Parts: sequence; structure tokens; C-alpha cells
Amino acid sequence: MNIAIVTGASSGMGREFARQLAKKLSKTDEIWLLARGREALEELAIELHHERTVKIRTIAIDITDERKLARFAEVLMIRNPRISVLVNCAGMGIYGAFEKQSRDEVTETVRLNVLALTQMTKLCLPYMKKGSRIIQLSSGAAFCPQADFAVYAASKAYVYSFGLALAKELKHSGVSVTVVCPGPVKTPFIDHAYGRYGQMNRLKKMTMAKPEKVVRKALLDAKQKKTLSIYGLPLKFVYRLTKGLI
Ligand SMILES: NC(=O)c1ccc[n+]([C@@H]2O[C@H](COP(=O)([O-])OP(=O)(O)OC[C@H]3O[C@@H](n4cnc5c(N)ncnc54)[C@H](OP(=O)(O)O)[C@@H]3O)[C@@H](O)[C@H]2O)c1
Repeated sequence: MNIAIVTGASSGMGREFARQLAKKLSKTDEIWLLARGREALEELAIELHHERTVKIRTIAIDITDERKLARFAEVLMIRNPRISVLVNCAGMGIYGAFEKQSRDEVTETVRLNVLALTQMTKLCLPYMKKGSRIIQLSSGAAFCPQADFAVYAASKAYVYSFGLALAKELKHSGVSVTVVCPGPVKTPFIDHAYGRYGQMNRLKKMTMAKPEKVVRKALLDAKQKKTLSIYGLPLKFVYRLTKGLI
């Protein structure tokens, strides 16, 4: 059985990845959608069912919960699928000064963005073969440290570094890794991230991208086995300024 897995599929870019994958994947039997919000996942499954292309399986799971991840590992072991695509999209960020944020908020950010993403990659990799693709959602925030977004930017710098290193390690196996680094994208993430301890600046508001476009580029870049996916000129410019590589 060939499957694709999308974490953070109940909202924003994860939901969009699921939609676009459901249209594109012809040799995939099932798409597994993961997030905590069961209702939103089921609504999406009904929507995608109308596409009639691929079977949708919803898995309501908190991927920061060790015991639930262990259960998920068992499911993988029992079903023994071939994972053709893993999209690690679940993530969160809280904008504002580190000293104002609660211990729970900063801990949850690191648990989800760093630990859960690493664990999901570790759990899924044994089921991937030549041609399989891993898509890691980092951010333009990974390119340089960001005051007032300190923990989030650091967590995404981890995803960036981990993803690029893993791409190199896995080259021999034919499993590709694409690190996606968007600037601001119009999703519920923005409402969760801003407003509590600070506001989004005007430049970020002006460069806000649509999730459909960021995801389309990410899937194309992953198909072409590119290790980095950066949507839009503003972000490419920031990348050039900070990394000087493009
Ligand atoms: N939007 C942006 O401006 C932007 C820019 C750059 C990078 N990114 C990154 O892109 C990724 C997707 O962001 P988005 O904008 O689509 O955000 P979003 O709309 O807020 O979606 C976040 C997803 O993560 C899931 N999630 C949160 N905590 C979870 C947990 N403990 N276990 C399982 N799932 C969990 C949420 O589902 P439940 O709440 O149902 O669990 C939701 O599906 C994130 O990694 C984000 O950091 C976003």
C-alpha cells in the first residue's frame, strides 16, 4: 500500500497540501491526514472524497504526545505501507518578546516545531524508498535570528538545518528532502501568532502570500527534488541577503 502523510492537515497550508496531493497523486492508495482537530479533518475528508481519486484516512492525534506517537508507530508497523510523501506541516509560533511569553507557549512551540517534526521524520523514514519525498515546513524566519519571534525563528532554523543535512544524508537512497521556507502566508497561523504580545509589521502584511501558491511551488520543487523551496521575490531577496547563495 502506497500512502502520503500530511501533518497539520486540519488547517492552512497542511489542508492545501492535502487538497493538491489528492488531485496529483495517481499511484497513491491513501492519504493520511493528521492533526488534533477531528472535526476539521473529517470535513476535509468529505471534501476530498468528492475528488474520488484516493482514499482519505483521518488520524486525530497530538503529535507532541509521546504515547500517541508510539501508537502511531504501531499503526505503521502493522500496516507496513510504503510512504511516498511525508509533509511535516504542523507548526505554531507566538510573536512577541520572549520574556512576556508563558513557559507553556515557548515549550509547546519547541515540542511541535522541533521535536514532533523530528520524531515524525524518524518514524516514517523506514517506510520510504527511492522516489519518496519528505517536505519539511520551515520558514523565512529560519534565515536569520528574529527579535520578538525568537523561539519560532530558532525552531525554524532547526528545521532548515536538519532538512538540508538530511537531504544530503539521504541522497544515496533516492529519498528526497525539500525544505519549504515561506514568508507570511494567509492562514489561521497569522491570527494565532500575532496580537497577543505584538502586531505584524507593515512589510510582512504587504508580502503576504496565498497558501495555494506556496503549496503548489513546494510540491513542484519536491517533484524536481530541490532541497529548498522559496516562494516569491521578497523571500528570495531576503534569502540572498542573509545566506548569499541564490
Ligand atoms: N502562515 C505563515 O505565515 C507561515 C509562514 C512560514 C511558515 N509557516 C509554517 O507552515 C506550517 C503550516 O502553517 P499554517 O500557516 O498552515 O498554520 P495553521 O493554519 O495554524 O495550521 C497549523 C496546523 O498544525 C496543527 N497542529 C498544531 N498543533 C498540533 C499538535 N500538537 N499535533 C498535531 N497537529 C498540530 C493544527 O491542527 P490542530 O490544531 O487541529 O491540531 C493545524 O492543522 C507551520 O509549520 C508554520 O510554522 C507558516
